[in-house]
Amino acid sequence: MVVGVLLLGVLLYYLLVVTEGVFLGRRLVVWLYDRVAGTYDARKAVDPDYEAFFLARPLQHHLKHIPNPLILDVATGTGRLPVALLAEPLFHGRVIGLDASGKMLAVAADKLRPYQFRAALVQQTADRLPFPANSFAAVTCLEALEFFPDDETAVYEMVRVLKPGGILLVTRRKGAWGKAFLYHYRTVAQFEAFLRVIGLEKVYTVPWQQEYDQVYGRKRHEG
Ligand SMILES: C[S@@+](CC[C@H](N)C(=O)[O-])C[C@H]1O[C@@H](n2cnc3c(N)ncnc32)[C@H](O)[C@@H]1O
Repeated sequence: MVVGVLLLGVLLYYLLVVTEGVFLGRRLVVWLYDRVAGTYDARKAVDPDYEAFFLARPLQHHLKHIPNPLILDVATGTGRLPVALLAEPLFHGRVIGLDASGKMLAVAADKLRPYQFRAALVQQTADRLPFPANSFAAVTCLEALEFFPDDETAVYEMVRVLKPGGILLVTRRKGAWGKAFLYHYRTVAQFEAFLRVIGLEKVYTVPWQQEYDQVYGRKRHEG
């Protein structure tokens, strides 16, 4: 009896905490994010200088030849990437943040209020992006792919809406916490190969946080 309860506890911890509900379906993942939205930023405690140095400026560097780039941030959460980019004095573009959690987006909306018409938020899941093909100069997706039931479809969608020559920036969960996601886990080589197969070139991986790498690629021009 005690062993049974213990095993059930371990299983629930794995399904709800370690893998944040991904093996129980998208609705549960989103429901869990709705529950934690109010405390997400406090727990994350991101440092604006760190965000500028490791996120906003490298992305801006890739986009420096485009005067007013339009960026899509998939699974934007509380608006981490839009806020980091729009706070940069030399960034003159606009950012759309998309997320399935209405509560996460409500927090993002508060933070993005100072940027008015340069930021927009959309509540939608990542597997069917509500935008025409070839729309964005860059598409980003940070700390989220492993929580999508079908992460490959989501990445296909990101590449579809990216303009030829546009930049994709996604994160790859790594280490033991990455492997815990079982078939969602890919090595650096596997992940980079997948991105090349679906139409990206100049793919490379940069170590970022303890649990994540950043992976960049550029959408190939046809022909
Ligand atoms: C760990 S948070 C990352 C948020 C933000 N990108 C960041 O770096 O702080 C994961 C986000 O993915 C969103 N999410 C999970 N499944 C999703 C799906 N299928 N479609 C769109 N967003 C999803 C959650 O609502 C949550 O906001």
